[in-house]
Amino acid sequence: MEHFSAVQSLCRVGLESGDARFRKQVERLRDRLAKAGDERDASTISALLANVTSEVSFAPSNVEVSRSLVTGDELTPNVHPPADRETSVPLAEILLAPALGQPTPIFDETLQLAMNALVSEWQRADALKLLGVEPSRSCLFYGPPGTGKTLAALTLAARLNLPVVNARIDGLVSSFLGTTARNIANLFDFANRYRCVLVLDEFDALAKMRDDPHELGELKRVVNTLLQNLDARADKGLTIAITNHEGLLDPAVWRRFQNHVRIGQPDLPTRLEMLRTFLSSLELGDDVIKTLSYVAGARSGSDLKTFADALRRSLALSGSEVTPRAITIATKALLPRLGIEDADMGPARLFLVDEPKFIGAILHAELGVRQESLAQMFDCSQSKISRWSADWTPEGASSEGVVDA
Ligand SMILES: Nc1ncnc2c1ncn2[C@@H]1O[C@H](COP(=O)(O)OP(=O)(O)O)[C@@H](O)[C@H]1O
Ligand SMILES: [Mg+2]
Repeated sequence: MEHFSAVQSLCRVGLESGDARFRKQVERLRDRLAKAGDERDASTISALLANVTSEVSFAPSNVEVSRSLVTGDELTPNVHPPADRETSVPLAEILLAPALGQPTPIFDETLQLAMNALVSEWQRADALKLLGVEPSRSCLFYGPPGTGKTLAALTLAARLNLPVVNARIDGLVSSFLGTTARNIANLFDFANRYRCVLVLDEFDALAKMRDDPHELGELKRVVNTLLQNLDARADKGLTIAITNHEGLLDPAVWRRFQNHVRIGQPDLPTRLEMLRTFLSSLELGDDVIKTLSYVAGARSGSDLKTFADALRRSLALSGSEVTPRAITIATKALLPRLGIEDADMGPARLFLVDEPKFIGAILHAELGVRQESLAQMFDCSQSKISRWSADWTPEGASSEGVVDA
């Protein structure tokens, strides 16, 4: 089909909006393509549809936040964010549709529940009001880089149907004395004037001012301004702060947030779910996904996304059929340039340089990968695979002689 990649992008963006009528039309497109014998494009559209359905766990129903709870003017495309007076650099970015073009976050169940709980406080705001309490308005997301914190903040705002005033705090810290505190005050004034979620990303940037002794006086002023502004905003809009270095935060700042959500490295089932989603267009068998996940190891969602995108690009360029063997070859070529090739004899290294030991290790890792799938991926007989498995020892000390029997 002509311009199929553009059609695909349109479908993806439209499906993410969650509009049922749009979905219906995409399903019709898939059926027509299948009917016309265009199996390949039809299955790509199917994958898109499946993708969005499997991701709905964090995007069930959107909430209409009451105007009496979150007050202020509507943000429109004509509203401009405030800027630093010295440099004219905008202090924030306005996102009217914060989830647009963003994938749905994939989190483990505990985290998913925590996120849903935040949304349901707003969903049940009336019930809470009867009990004399309000939904919580402030939340701090913390954890290592690349785990989906920014994504979670944007998704949360989208679920509340609120636009985002997105401020990267590192951009707000000015080299001009006295300007940082003024920037913070201006940012909060702006956010308080409009109905929005204020996102304070890279929040720890303020604390970094401690590293410079000349900045200590300024830092004190800045923290005070921040505390005053957080307090003043406490009954207005919603505020989400994000940091990779929670240890750097001033305890008084930390305490200003009603919720503290740690978004840590994804566990194994979550990493599998990520790879399944990121690679869904390739329609790989689950054993291949498990093998890739084992090779990639304990990495962040961002790293896995980079890996998956590189793999998809490489397969698209090679033009060859997507077979388990082709995946192995492409992955081997990719690992060294993605920084996934670990220095010690970890799975990625073994995958590259020692197939027998890799195969022994993955079979003993009890991921449920079948020997016949490995035989396909490594283009060898199943009997060889079972021999390598039998020879494997935890130290990986199977001698050449034994392997070669
Ligand atoms: N939990 C996740 N679920 C889905 N995608 C993720 C996840 N974590 C990271 N990603 C991918 O990595 C990108 C960067 O994530 P981001 O939210 O910026 O991480 P952080 O803010 O924690 O550093 C996202 O846009 C997304 O493509
Ligand atoms: Mg981020």
